Amino acid sequence: MKILVVGGAGFIGSHVVDLYIDNGHEVHVVDDLSTGKKGNIHPRAKFHHLDIYNDQEALTHLIQSEKFEIINHHAAQKSVPASMENPIIDAQINIMGTLNLLESAVEHGVKKFIFASSGGTLAGDISKIPTSEVDTPVLVSPYAISKYTLEKYLDFYYQHHGLNYTVLRYANVYGPRQVPDGECGVVSIFLENFMQGKPSKIYTFPHMPSGATRDYIFVKEVARVNLLVLDDGDNQVFNIGTGVETSTESVYQILQDGLKCYVPCIKEPKRKGDLERVSLNCDQAFKQLGWRYQTSLQQGLMETIYSVLERKIECK
Ligand SMILES: NC(=O)c1ccc[n+]([C@@H]2O[C@H](COP(=O)([O-])OP(=O)(O)OC[C@H]3O[C@@H](n4cnc5c(N)ncnc54)[C@H](O)[C@@H]3O)[C@@H](O)[C@H]2O)c1
Repeated sequence: MKILVVGGAGFIGSHVVDLYIDNGHEVHVVDDLSTGKKGNIHPRAKFHHLDIYNDQEALTHLIQSEKFEIINHHAAQKSVPASMENPIIDAQINIMGTLNLLESAVEHGVKKFIFASSGGTLAGDISKIPTSEVDTPVLVSPYAISKYTLEKYLDFYYQHHGLNYTVLRYANVYGPRQVPDGECGVVSIFLENFMQGKPSKIYTFPHMPSGATRDYIFVKEVARVNLLVLDDGDNQVFNIGTGVETSTESVYQILQDGLKCYVPCIKEPKRKGDLERVSLNCDQAFKQLGWRYQTSLQQGLMETIYSVLERKIECK
């Protein structure tokens, strides 16, 4: 298949590109390199340095001339705090940028649109754990609102223009190539701090002294589901996680033991807006796609540690 991966220079998108190419697909990448890196892009992918919000004309020209069968969309403004500080920029990239892609997709015969949504942020502080796709989303940030809005637009483009879609609502994705940015990606933030011998902060709740719980899913498992939905799961929404809740402190301890690098952590009270618990019910992905995670958190974290050590950064 001929596939355009938007955001293919980023953490998750670049693993999706690798797997598509390994499976014989022809892949183009659109990315503005705002958080992604050119070095992440598979050498056999054709790269187009474009911004999905500002470069609409060039984007349309690309989609028209290359006649992609699939658009896989992983580009986003992905920071929840940034979306709260500047909802307009969030909407420009996440809503308007995606609408630019969708308009070109229907105009130029794209068959299917695969969209990276967010299970964790759509769950909000929901009482039902693990959360399933049919539970009513609790939207507590502009980032969550923009992701959910796009899910509704996808249904509109399917109903009115026949563009098939699959929505993948990811839990907390971790693995090689994740960049610590101070706000999200606790595994990469902890790893970076360990490498520098710096203590990390764990935000706690009065009744949860080991910190919030999250559902951690290894990036290669996420890439694998992106391969399966090339020809399955049309016009459906899938949670992609493990259903297992792990506290922040447990992640810290696994990394500490794996690295044999003992730096005490600092415990602080939760920040405004921190969710207590996230875990996704992923039965639907198993029923429809036969997808279920196979990499345990320990295995995935060890592979992530090795990838960091390969980059020859040493634990101080
Ligand atoms: N990492 C997670 O745990 C997680 C969880 C849920 C959902 N998601 C979603 O998965 C997707 C990928 O996330 P990631 O963690 O790989 O982030 P990432 O920042 O590594 O990847 C995003 C990519 O999009 C590119 N990009 C951003 N704005 C762009 C624009 N205007 N035009 C073109 N390219 C642009 C960036 O340069 C980057 O390469 C995002 O949509 C994110 O919201 C991620």
